[in-house]
Amino acid sequence: MKHSLTETFDIEFPLFAFSHCRDVVAAVSRNGGFGVLGAVELTPEELRVELDWIAAHTNGRPFGLDLIVPNAAIGKDESISDADLVNMVPDGHIEFADSILESQGIDTSDLVADRNYDLTFTHNIQGQKTNAMLEVAAEYSVALLVNALGVPPPNMFEFARAHGIKVGALVGTVNHALNQARAGVDVLIAAGGEAGGHCGAVSTMVLVPEVCRALKQHNLSVPVLAAGGIATGEQMAAAMTMGAEGAWCGSVWLTTVEAETTPTVKRKMIEATASDTVRAKSRTGKPSRQLRSAWTDAWESTGAPEPLPMPLQSLVSEPALRKVDKLAEGGHGGAEALATYWVGQAVGLMNAEQSVADVMLGFKTDFIEAHGRISAFIEGVDDAASE
Ligand SMILES: Cc1cc2nc3c(=O)[nH]c(=O)nc-3n(C[C@H](O)[C@H](O)[C@H](O)COP(=O)(O)O)c2cc1C
Repeated sequence: MKHSLTETFDIEFPLFAFSHCRDVVAAVSRNGGFGVLGAVELTPEELRVELDWIAAHTNGRPFGLDLIVPNAAIGKDESISDADLVNMVPDGHIEFADSILESQGIDTSDLVADRNYDLTFTHNIQGQKTNAMLEVAAEYSVALLVNALGVPPPNMFEFARAHGIKVGALVGTVNHALNQARAGVDVLIAAGGEAGGHCGAVSTMVLVPEVCRALKQHNLSVPVLAAGGIATGEQMAAAMTMGAEGAWCGSVWLTTVEAETTPTVKRKMIEATASDTVRAKSRTGKPSRQLRSAWTDAWESTGAPEPLPMPLQSLVSEPALRKVDKLAEGGHGGAEALATYWVGQAVGLMNAEQSVADVMLGFKTDFIEAHGRISAFIEGVDDAASE
């Protein structure tokens, strides 16, 4: 299958996989797609370990790296100490989060220490570690560097250009897409509101053609990957008929054998329908789509505090949800009810645990079948016209 992105990245099938799990990233690249490691929760030292492993398990196939350096975040481009940042979290938010856990029979006395301790995500979001992360990336043959939540910062562009790496960016509106294209990104990932994780409000079905059309109108020639809600090859084919050059998927990997997803959350995802997700600010401070649970319901309830701006809200949610995950794995019923993770509406299409290789094969088979259905329709029209 020859297409510009398959040629640019020397891959067989233009299916790009976002994952925080190295096993998924490597398996996608080995099976003809392109795996991209999400590194926002890693220190530079941890990133080296992950990239070492990926480089050793991809049989020379290409892979990418994803960071999140938003255009705006508390503590970005300003000097706020870690202690001051932690102190910016109002007591009321901590008490509310604690009360959710306590209502499910969970002791919260040890969460304060965790909140002060794990600031890796915060430092990455603030851009404090971007150069250190890029120095690590330089040791490996990373083929694509992606930024989310804003135009990649100048150091990312400079690094990528100096190392011959393509730059990608996620966008949720047509204006974001035009800004990113003008800033010089090489690949646009148009992520609709169905997507897992951070997403805008426009649906993929509208966003993809809107972005493709606007790029053409403005003579901006940047390939587009469609993201958000895509979990089958038929959907990928549909996106490509609308002008995308491939698909970028995050959710579909979460129920694979290789995924990092905890067994409790994986089971909940397999049972979930497309209606069981919520787009809410309560996890990170910016709208992100996640599996509905007693935790997300509590934050959506009347009287819940307004989520804090990024990255403060994560200091409230992450320690609590880490504890929930641990207890859920031990069979704690309240923790099972609270357990959640980012996932998109495609969760309704993820009905069984499969290997990454089987998901890749399913995508390719469905893609060809979708092509066959359209071709058969056109042949039927042609036959009718010639009768
Ligand atoms: C568990 C999870 C974590 C995510 N984390 C990030 C992230 O760190 N950086 C990023 O650029 N996108 C992240 N995303 C969004 C994906 O890159 C992608 O846009 C989205 O998953 C596509 O929609 P889909 O989930 O319907 O496949 C995440 C998505 C999920 C499901």
